[in-house]
Amino acid sequence: MDSIFLFFLLLLPVAAPKGSHSLWVLATYIKGQTPFPEFSYVAMLDDVRMLYYNGETKTLHPRGNTTAEDDVFDSDVLLTISDYMRSSFINKWEVATKNLNKTDGVLALQRLVLCELRDNGEPGQMITRDAVRGSTTDELLYVDKNFTYQGTLNVSAPVLNMHLEFSMRRHEVLYQPFCIKTLKGYLKKRRTQIYRKVNPKVRLIQKELSSGFHVSCLATGFYPRHINLTLFRDGQPVSDHEITGGDLLPNADGTYQMRKSLEISAADKHKYTCSVTHLSLDNKLDIYLEFDHGEPFKSVIASVLTVLALMLVIGAAVAITAWKRRRADSIKNEYSTASTSEESLGTYSALM
Ligand SMILES: *[C@@H]1O[C@H](CO)[C@@H](O)[C@H](O)[C@H]1NC(C)=O
Ligand SMILES: *[C@@H]1O[C@H](CO)[C@@H](O)[C@H](O)[C@H]1NC(C)=O
Ligand SMILES: *[C@@H]1O[C@H](CO)[C@@H](O)[C@H](O)[C@H]1NC(C)=O
Ligand SMILES: *[C@@H]1O[C@H](CO)[C@@H](O)[C@H](O)[C@H]1NC(C)=O
Ligand SMILES: *[C@@H]1O[C@H](CO)[C@@H](O)[C@H](O)[C@H]1NC(C)=O
Repeated sequence: MDSIFLFFLLLLPVAAPKGSHSLWVLATYIKGQTPFPEFSYVAMLDDVRMLYYNGETKTLHPRGNTTAEDDVFDSDVLLTISDYMRSSFINKWEVATKNLNKTDGVLALQRLVLCELRDNGEPGQMITRDAVRGSTTDELLYVDKNFTYQGTLNVSAPVLNMHLEFSMRRHEVLYQPFCIKTLKGYLKKRRTQIYRKVNPKVRLIQKELSSGFHVSCLATGFYPRHINLTLFRDGQPVSDHEITGGDLLPNADGTYQMRKSLEISAADKHKYTCSVTHLSLDNKLDIYLEFDHGEPFKSVIASVLTVLALMLVIGAAVAITAWKRRRADSIKNEYSTASTSEESLGTYSALM
């Protein structure tokens, strides 16, 4: 189930309107040899899992902090809606298998239902989007009492219109009111979780390559997921086409990470910095990587010479200990300039 969940999570828009919240239902109808129930779904508030529905047993399983959440929604109504959803999947499956001509192995249908609460407390858009084998087939958008439908399913107009009429009435009288009420209820109960702010930990990492260096800026452990992470060269933003990465990835603990990387030549003498802005930070956070290729080797040679001198003066056993300690010190001092073949750390987040 988790890989399907992750797939959906990656679809979450990074730039949802500020202050708005969404309740999501991510449903899967899957036929063939799989360990999954034929029909199941996960419901989320923003990016936090609220519950799981198992269509095999027709049971709802709350997720996370569930103390006193029984009154958030009427579970009988949700179970009825779940049954509607299953019948609609069964109809879709008929159409999909005809359209696809043949179904070897597993065929998965997916549905994303989203209702949004604007920051003024009014319902925003509601989206019901279906996919067959991972490609969107049709979508019903309901916003400000206005429906828009787009679809590629091969069904005759009368059949389609009949289904649409039916579905639109249900959106108006049942799906959207129920979704918004549930969203508001969860928002109240999960306040501390949804509105929490967790600082990003930011590092500039430098890795030696045969042809130069790989510089990357990593921000991790932050919440909420909106973040601006920018790499600068001598104070100017590095252009996007030079940068790799930049995808928002989830961590196992519900926080996020983002990494942006850049390859530079060994002769590059520019100064690189990484700047991060996030809701949890009062000001933007700048991380500097002092990048001067001559330095690391010079300082390593210097410390080796010191060690050699020491070895002449004191006994070998003492010297080896000293060498080890000195080497550790010099690595610490040269933290941001050390260029080893392994990843060497830049500066850690200054604010904890
Ligand atoms: C669409 O449906 C019609 C009638 O069922 C059928 O004749 C036609 O081959 C279908 N087209 C595709 C692309 O499946
Ligand atoms: C459906 O499959 C049959 C047999 O594999 C093939 O002859 C036919 O062209 C296919 N039809 C479509 C619409 O793909
Ligand atoms: C409904 O949506 C359509 C398509 O986006 C748009 O052309 C139309 O003006 C909208 N109607 C209202 C009443 O908002
Ligand atoms: C769980 O929910 C209760 C009631 O809303 C709240 O008082 C409590 O702080 C929550 N616990 C956590 C760990 O979020
Ligand atoms: C990111 O930058 C954009 C444009 O400057 C700004 O509107 C947005 O609020 C920033 N987001 C964060 C999380 O700082």
